[in-house]
Amino acid sequence: MSLLEEINSLILEAESSLSKCNSEEELDASKNLFVGKKGKLTQVLKGLAALSVEEKKTIGKVANEAQVRIESFLENRRAALKEEFYQIKLKEEFIDALRPVNGNERGTLHPITQIQYEIEDIFTSMGFSVMDGPEVETDENNFAALNFTEDHPARDMQDTFYTTDGNLLRTHTSAIQVRALRNLKPPFRIIAPGRVFRYEEVDASHENTFYQVEGMVVGENISIANLIYTMETLLSSVFRTSVKTRLRPGYFPFVEPGFELDIQCLVCEGKGCSVCKQSGWLELLPCGLIHPNVLSHAGHDPKKWTGFAFGLGLDRLVMMRYGINDIRYFQSGNLRFLNQF
Ligand code: PHE
Repeated sequence: MSLLEEINSLILEAESSLSKCNSEEELDASKNLFVGKKGKLTQVLKGLAALSVEEKKTIGKVANEAQVRIESFLENRRAALKEEFYQIKLKEEFIDALRPVNGNERGTLHPITQIQYEIEDIFTSMGFSVMDGPEVETDENNFAALNFTEDHPARDMQDTFYTTDGNLLRTHTSAIQVRALRNLKPPFRIIAPGRVFRYEEVDASHENTFYQVEGMVVGENISIANLIYTMETLLSSVFRTSVKTRLRPGYFPFVEPGFELDIQCLVCEGKGCSVCKQSGWLELLPCGLIHPNVLSHAGHDPKKWTGFAFGLGLDRLVMMRYGINDIRYFQSGNLRFLNQF
């Protein structure tokens, strides 16, 4: 076979080999076989050295053309393969963008947010305003102005998260009482919902992050009767049923007298369960008359002004309403839990 014939048959051989390739790897292998360093065409070109100058010219030209032709065939095959894969992918990953969506796949408000809004409605209808405050607070607002002594155990590291700059994560929304007393002119009525933090061992009824609604009324001749009336209005509205309550003395440095308003556990109806720690009752509403020291600390004359305050735990309220037996669900982000509300 002459050199020319050999080149022509190599072209055909290469083209037939390349057209059978079905992947990048096969294409690369086939390329090496013909036009690579040790490829068949390269070998043939080495034979040119033995030829005359005239022959070198003509056959060299043919050989170069052959190389170009094989390479362009190879690139075409590569592009065709790419397109083939793309089409297969398109078919496999088909998405019908016009398919009607399921109208029920909507988010809902967190159950704690829902009850917070409800409580805001109840109180604004009774003439209260809604106040806000920051989650990082000063010792002054969270403790000192609320008549906590310097060595009060609630300041202890066991209960409170401190920040490195000497501030703290508020342990109760009562810090907003202090802001209200400083910024508002009595008489006033406010509630203040918010997230609070305690350095707690977490279990079915304790979280390190939870929600409260603070309430505060300051005016002339405000009495315990006003407090009890307001609390009963709130609870009957929230539970839409008569709940059993009891009032016990309770100690908080910023109220005098102070109370614990308990409600009978709605999860077990008083029989005892993990939510009420087997007691049948839940501490739901600590409250009391504002301590004279708190009023005078804020510059208000305690002989003229009196008031009451309460701190409602929202997590427990929601647990009671729906019979939820573990507080940890609220912060869990578990959609199977949240989708129920
Ligand atoms: N801040 C108190 C607590 O979180 C609750 C409270 C509020 C008590 C208002 C009395 C009056 O424990």
